[in-house]
Amino acid sequence: VKLLNSTFLLENYLMNKRAIITSALPYANGEIHLGHVASTYLPADVTTRFLKQNGVEAYYVCASDDFGTPILIQSEKQGKTPADYVAHWNKRDYEDFSAFNIDFDYFYNTSSSENIAFVQDVFTKLNDAGHIYQKEIIQFYCNNDKKFLPDRYVTGICPHCKAKDQYSDLCESCGRVPEEIIDPKCSLCGTPPTKEKTTHYFFKLKNFADSLSKWLEENEHLQKDVKKYVQNWIKSGLIDWDITRDISWGVPVPLDGAEGKVFYGWFDNHLAYISTALKFLNDKGIDGKEFWNSADIYHFIGKDIVYHHFLFLPAMRLGINSEYKLPNYIPTRGHLTLEGKKLSKSRNWYIGLKQFLGYYPADYLRYYLISINPYSQDDLNFDWDDFTTRINSELIGNFGNFVNRALGFTKKVFDGKIPEIESFDEHDMEAEQKIKNLATDVGQLMEQNHIDRALKKIMEFSSFYNQYFQHKEPWKKGPGTVNCVFLSVNAVRTLAIAISSFMPESAQKIWNQLGLNGKVNDNMWGEMSELGISSGHDLGEASPLFVRVDADDVTKYKKQLGPSEK
Ligand code: MF3
Ligand code: ZN
Repeated sequence: VKLLNSTFLLENYLMNKRAIITSALPYANGEIHLGHVASTYLPADVTTRFLKQNGVEAYYVCASDDFGTPILIQSEKQGKTPADYVAHWNKRDYEDFSAFNIDFDYFYNTSSSENIAFVQDVFTKLNDAGHIYQKEIIQFYCNNDKKFLPDRYVTGICPHCKAKDQYSDLCESCGRVPEEIIDPKCSLCGTPPTKEKTTHYFFKLKNFADSLSKWLEENEHLQKDVKKYVQNWIKSGLIDWDITRDISWGVPVPLDGAEGKVFYGWFDNHLAYISTALKFLNDKGIDGKEFWNSADIYHFIGKDIVYHHFLFLPAMRLGINSEYKLPNYIPTRGHLTLEGKKLSKSRNWYIGLKQFLGYYPADYLRYYLISINPYSQDDLNFDWDDFTTRINSELIGNFGNFVNRALGFTKKVFDGKIPEIESFDEHDMEAEQKIKNLATDVGQLMEQNHIDRALKKIMEFSSFYNQYFQHKEPWKKGPGTVNCVFLSVNAVRTLAIAISSFMPESAQKIWNQLGLNGKVNDNMWGEMSELGISSGHDLGEASPLFVRVDADDVTKYKKQLGPSEK
């Protein structure tokens, strides 16, 4: 039995009428590029918009990730205070996201007073519950630079997979955290560091092996392959986490005798998911804690931070008795490569988001990045030629063409007024059925996080209608003309609603061209199944939605990548 109405989705699939969505917090240490938006921000934005379209009370919160040694060093290099330095990037990142229509309900920062207080409170609770201990450790120290060298300030060979040039806090080759990096070097000056004693605080991750394993097993929304991978880590033995650092920029450890020590960035940053949501909700007059605990929680991430989000983050929440519930979804996606090669800022093998938006409208990039974005850890590849083909033949040749054809024809022949209909023939009935089915067909894929397949379904709908229009030959003004116009214009309306999470600007343009009032927005998902435009309705002004991507321009943009030509 095919259910055609809109509440079907909400009642049968979306289990929860509340949701909080986050995506990996960007370091306040450089500009946002295509790699960031492809794997986390765009999928999270599309999902949030989709949930809102379905009447879910959904909030997308994010923050800049402000603490950590790399940021401190960068700010010093630029002669700025770290606070000024991160404020600059917080603002710039937010502007770039906004230009790309990443529609955060709230964008805050991990160095906010709210987050600092929250982190200290969580630490105190973990400490009281016996999950923290102190230990004297030997820390790398550079006698040349006269400082302790935590984390990425030491590079060497990964003890697990033997990959060279890996950071001491994360092997990017196997994704694990090395206990002791082989053949260490100071990443500032290249000299082998010496070892000095210092006292640090540790989080007993080992305490959580069983409860983490149980949580993973019971949560049916987590991706199977990621789960398996994480279960293997747990089986091979968890390692307690050193959660403090001897640097001046971070959340101070709230204990006597811990002066001069701050928390490691990965202790405080993910707590800003919660503290930011609480700040936002409480300011709105909503009980933030109650909302958090009754909502579906989504953390969108890239596969490089699986360890942190599947072990460290849930363990810390379990450690405070799940006072704030654990995530329901941790959609994990692969990395973006560019023309088949790994992104690299230093070799200029990357494209800044701002730079790209100087070339093409946001919706071109949204369309392309969603199309190539599977719900898996497989890498996705930005390829300029593929971009050109997909935009020109799919977005413009199929979708834009149909919208323009349907509206343009109605303008020209019927002066923009939707004609009275006659009885439907079998083609009309099939076409009408397509309108009735789209919300469910696309919604089911969205519910399973398959944003790429969902968008493809919408494009298939558009392609069907192109054929229908072609087959009916309305330009001959024969008997089927009025029905063809009526159904095609209604299909355009259906398309506007369907694409509005994916390409919000284009959706709104179409809405205006249809002569419909207001915004295509929240709560409208089900309405796409209706024949919402009646005979007698007047269309707005029709104009082409897109301009083709020019091959010569693309050649120029390609040349801007990588080492300069000479
Ligand atoms: N800033 C980190 C990164 O870019 C991600 C932090 S996600 C957080 O890798 F939730 F843990 F903050
Ligand atoms: Zn050094």
